Amino acid sequence: MKEELETLQQEALAKVKQTEKLKALQEIRVAYLGKKGSLTGVLRGMGKLSKEERPVVGEIANRVRETITSALDDKSAELNEQELEEQLANESIDVTLPGRSVQVGGPHLLTSIVEEIEDLFVGLGFEIKEGPEVETDYFNFEALNLPKNHPARDMQDSFYLTNELLLRTHTSPVQARTMQSLEGSEPVKMICPGKVYRRDTDDATHSHQFTQIEGLYVDKNVRMSDLKGILDVFAKKMFGDEREIRLRPSFFPFTEPSVEMDISCKVCGGKGCSVCKQTGWIEILGAGMVHPKVLEMAGYDSSVYSGFAFGMGPERIAMLKYGIDDIRQFYTNDKRFLKQYHQA
Ligand code: DAH
Repeated sequence: MKEELETLQQEALAKVKQTEKLKALQEIRVAYLGKKGSLTGVLRGMGKLSKEERPVVGEIANRVRETITSALDDKSAELNEQELEEQLANESIDVTLPGRSVQVGGPHLLTSIVEEIEDLFVGLGFEIKEGPEVETDYFNFEALNLPKNHPARDMQDSFYLTNELLLRTHTSPVQARTMQSLEGSEPVKMICPGKVYRRDTDDATHSHQFTQIEGLYVDKNVRMSDLKGILDVFAKKMFGDEREIRLRPSFFPFTEPSVEMDISCKVCGGKGCSVCKQTGWIEILGAGMVHPKVLEMAGYDSSVYSGFAFGMGPERIAMLKYGIDDIRQFYTNDKRFLKQYHQA
């Protein structure tokens, strides 16, 4: 029986040594020390032993139990430790690894330019107004001194929705709307940025939809020199202090006299180059003194009130400012193009 116990101990210790899994260790515990385990089995045979042998074998049996138990406990502690270490190693974070970069967006170039122009005019005391993109024939044309069948309507190929409704071809109707809402009783000093639509074939310089910013200043004693002063400030703030402006006679039905404003070419400084077509000047916007008929139709007494108006295309201004040669860049949303204009 002594030998049996010794063999049992050796066998158990060998198994414990080989085991790498906590679950297998538990199985060994049950197999040797459990109620139906091998050691218990051997001890059941103790009854057959003589009185003298019993305590001796009993002592050995106890020692065997203790040895196996402590081997199991040691191994189990060792495996638990190993498991924890593995877990820590797997879950460890390398704080020196570079982080995943997040793509940060920014305002679209056109948004930035419009905001820059808005800020500039707000600084000069102008209010920002809005008007509908689906406009009536009346506000888009008639209230601006463009009666039906007027030849100047051909300058602006329109998208008509019905006989009386169209997609506005310019932001000028907001002039008439703003004046009419004040019923000829108050001065107006406003700008209106917004989308406009023309029946044009898209190419490098044309787009069927683009942006305009309208300006209107109506008060007593507003003169052409006021217009020139404001436009000069605008040109210098947008394109640099060295820019000169010039006003050329032009025609718009809603202004009289009408002008077009040029700035001295910033590429050649006025000497003449391919950008300014050798003229030294670049056309920026249309403007003029509000036509008395337009004032009258909106309810203003043109013998008391006078005003100036202007209209510009932010795309064109951005193209000149940044040397962009294709208006479609504003609408095709190529991120490589747009990213160049994101301020950090
Ligand atoms: N509405 C004109 C256009 O789209 C631009 C314009 C010219 C607006 C002269 C004005 C102005 O207010 O005074 O071509």
